[in-house]
Amino acid sequence: MTRIPIDPKDWPAHGRLVREVYERLTAEGILIAALDEAGRLNPMTIGWGVFGCIWGRSMFPVLVRPSRYTYQCIERTGDYTVNVMPPDLADLVGSCGTTSGRDMDKVAAHGLEILPSRHIRSGGLAAANIVLECRVVHHNDVQQPNFAVDIVTNYYPEGDFHRVYFGQVLGVSVRQDFLEDGTA
Ligand SMILES: Cc1cc2nc3c(=O)[nH]c(=O)nc-3n(C[C@H](O)[C@H](O)[C@H](O)COP(=O)(O)O)c2cc1C
Repeated sequence: MTRIPIDPKDWPAHGRLVREVYERLTAEGILIAALDEAGRLNPMTIGWGVFGCIWGRSMFPVLVRPSRYTYQCIERTGDYTVNVMPPDLADLVGSCGTTSGRDMDKVAAHGLEILPSRHIRSGGLAAANIVLECRVVHHNDVQQPNFAVDIVTNYYPEGDFHRVYFGQVLGVSVRQDFLEDGTA
């Protein structure tokens, strides 16, 4: 399927893309993917992520707990792709959020086609409606003393405090059929 490149600085100006990212994030989630030590792409579901402009750059920061296999992957590669899957693949997205790349090759198990990236090492997923290629330009760990108490109680009963990876968006591509289909 043909993909249309979009200027990374301009993508948030496309209201339809922003709406889709937000709708998928707050429904079944979206997939971030990074290479592991063996060079295997590992997709993981996220429900938390933000996008906007920081340091004059187009950014898509994501929050990853140290317990995730993905954490090790991003630590090594310093990059990741953000993959916004079509809603009819919600079960697949759910599965990538309940299984670990430590135990299985999720790409092979789901028969996913890898989309080579143009700007980073980690690839994207060809089935994704929207793929963002992100290079980490900063990271930071969220700190327990800085939280409102209810957030720590609800989201960090076992610690495992997220690392926030600040990924600069270097490349964006959108499936042509998604752009041409006016329903999304
Ligand atoms: C809807 C949904 C959203 C999730 N969001 C996040 C997230 O934002 N950050 C995170 O670290 N884990 C998140 N997870 C959990 C990971 O996706 C899950 O632990 C996954 O199995 C880790 O895969 P990995 O070990 O291959 O990295 C989410 C899971 C689901 C189902």
